[in-house]
Amino acid sequence: MNILIAGITGLIGEKISKSLSKKHTVIGLGRQLEKVKKHCDIALTWNDSLEDKIKEHNISAIINLCGEDIGQLWLNQSKHKIRNSRVLPTTKIASILKKFPNIHLINASGIGVYGFIQNANDQYGIEEFPAQTPKGYNDTGFLCTMGREWEDCSKNHPNTTYMRLAPVFDYNGGIYRRLTMSCAVGLMTQFGEGNSPFPWVSLLDVVNIIELIIDKKITGPINVCSPEIMTLHSIIQTIASRKNCYTVTVPSAVVKVLVGQMGNELFLNGTATKPDRLLKKGYNFNHPTFKEFINNTF
Ligand SMILES: NC(=O)c1ccc[n+]([C@@H]2O[C@H](COP(=O)([O-])OP(=O)(O)OC[C@H]3O[C@@H](n4cnc5c(N)ncnc54)[C@H](OP(=O)(O)O)[C@@H]3O)[C@@H](O)[C@H]2O)c1
Repeated sequence: MNILIAGITGLIGEKISKSLSKKHTVIGLGRQLEKVKKHCDIALTWNDSLEDKIKEHNISAIINLCGEDIGQLWLNQSKHKIRNSRVLPTTKIASILKKFPNIHLINASGIGVYGFIQNANDQYGIEEFPAQTPKGYNDTGFLCTMGREWEDCSKNHPNTTYMRLAPVFDYNGGIYRRLTMSCAVGLMTQFGEGNSPFPWVSLLDVVNIIELIIDKKITGPINVCSPEIMTLHSIIQTIASRKNCYTVTVPSAVVKVLVGQMGNELFLNGTATKPDRLLKKGYNFNHPTFKEFINNTF
């Protein structure tokens, strides 16, 4: 198959392009040609005519992983950038796909579409489209409203997969690197009490799940998270004990003052989800538990 990857230069894009290129032809799309060229033989930029390139390369699937890092301070300007970097590329791709209804669009999304809750109840995000708010969750936050708008962009394309990703853990980057930055000085920082639900998934599983989605042409919403729902506290404690680090807790009240809405949505509240569809499809997780991820990481 010929597969186009938008956002090929990112954490997930880099790994999935390497893996897919063993069996498929991978075409990369990004903002800077030179950067994209490092990840594939056929590189495109957003200035190319996407319609012409889809025809020229006979593309069967598009993986859209575009989006500015949400880990930057949420000022009005950065929230605008975070939103536009997802909504605008997805709108552009979806509008071109009106002419190519059979192309499989695999679009990144996040578990934030379900909203957030402070303390886990027995409710969790179910794979429905559009996303429904589980009982007791708050769906008025930035991640939820933006995530739903993002998913809405491709709702008219019949062959869309909405990959509702949990935070992706990999030894070399993403959230894991951020959480462990201060381990070099023997410390880990926990923001808030960390009791809210904190689903996660390993990058290796994300790569295998995307391959499964392509092979089995799975469309519709799909929760991409491990079967185990952790809390931020249990994640920090597991890493800290493996790395022999002390943990320092920044009290919730201080997190609220320091990072406001961002801290509230990313650290003080969370979203519980389960990978129901993946388990029904018979997917076997490489890292079903966080302990297994950590033990295979060192
Ligand atoms: N990693 C996670 O923990 C996680 C969790 C939930 C959801 N997701 C979602 O999954 C997707 C991929 O995640 P990732 O971790 O691989 O992200 P990443 O490493 O930050 O890479 C994101 C990609 O987006 C592209 N991009 C950034 N700003 C853009 C803009 N304004 N216009 C067009 N493209 C832009 C970049 O491509 P160029 O610079 O080459 O153009 C980059 O390759 C993102 O949409 C993210 O929100 C990730």
